[in-house]
Amino acid sequence: MSAPLIEALGVGRRYGDYVALKGVNLRVEPGETVAIVGPNGAGKTTLVNVLTGLLTPSEGSVRFRGADIAGVGPVRLARLGMARAFQLVQVFPELTVAETIAVGALSKLGRGRRMLASLGADREVRAKVEEVAAIFGLGPALRRPARELPQGQKKLLDVASAFALSPTVILLDEPTSGVATADKHGIMTTLMEAARRAGVEALLLVEHDIDLVETYASRVVGLRGGEVLADLPVRDFFADEGVTSALVGRRTAKAAPH
Ligand SMILES: Nc1ncnc2c1ncn2[C@@H]1O[C@H](COP(=O)(O)OP(=O)(O)OP(=O)(O)O)[C@@H](O)[C@H]1O
Ligand SMILES: [Mg+2]
Repeated sequence: MSAPLIEALGVGRRYGDYVALKGVNLRVEPGETVAIVGPNGAGKTTLVNVLTGLLTPSEGSVRFRGADIAGVGPVRLARLGMARAFQLVQVFPELTVAETIAVGALSKLGRGRRMLASLGADREVRAKVEEVAAIFGLGPALRRPARELPQGQKKLLDVASAFALSPTVILLDEPTSGVATADKHGIMTTLMEAARRAGVEALLLVEHDIDLVETYASRVVGLRGGEVLADLPVRDFFADEGVTSALVGRRTAKAAPH
């Protein structure tokens, strides 16, 4: 059997004396969409940061496709196929949509940011930008400054620039936060379809919206106080009242009678 895509082994993380993660074990296998849930401050973002090499664990280790990521760093990890999008989207205000996507493509293709100046002249980059923009429905907005996009499209743009890296696995920290409820399913279906078309092998997402978790995740990992309280297939997670009330404040599965 091949190694899992991502494996966390006994991961702990402290901020000074404060314990943000404790004894976290986690595996992400090809084909999975893993949702990380839990209350504010549970350690979800910290976990994503540790898994993507942005933070080093205080204890334990993280492996990506069987190799320890210690010392690899987020930039090289991204080139190796682990891409991520952030909870708080910070688009570069001066860049257009096309340039923002190109930042991802350039770093994958080993070009420097300097190449942005001659973006239009680089056919390989331009083709990648157009391909990714089309997947995310951003084609018509390519020449617009990124800062002018509505919030939902800004989130998609952030995800799109991660997709420009042609990732094997993608980690998304609240891809629908700050977006109107009516738009959340649209973003998630775009994202899931993009992942399928781009050949992404697994997704890990932090998500507060429980309907989205139930609809799109195959497995749910519940964090609370920095510890994993549940790690279950999505149906088992929502069938367990004790688990859902402790982690997501809802007692029954959507389809269950009240
Ligand atoms: N850089 C930091 N320095 C000190 N404490 C931090 C730091 N980052 C996070 N924390 C604390 O660690 C805990 C976990 O934070 P984290 O951001 O991982 O939670 P979260 O589950 O993502 O929460 P949210 O749902 O609000 O996004 C929180 O109590 C937070 O205040
Ligand atoms: Mg967070």
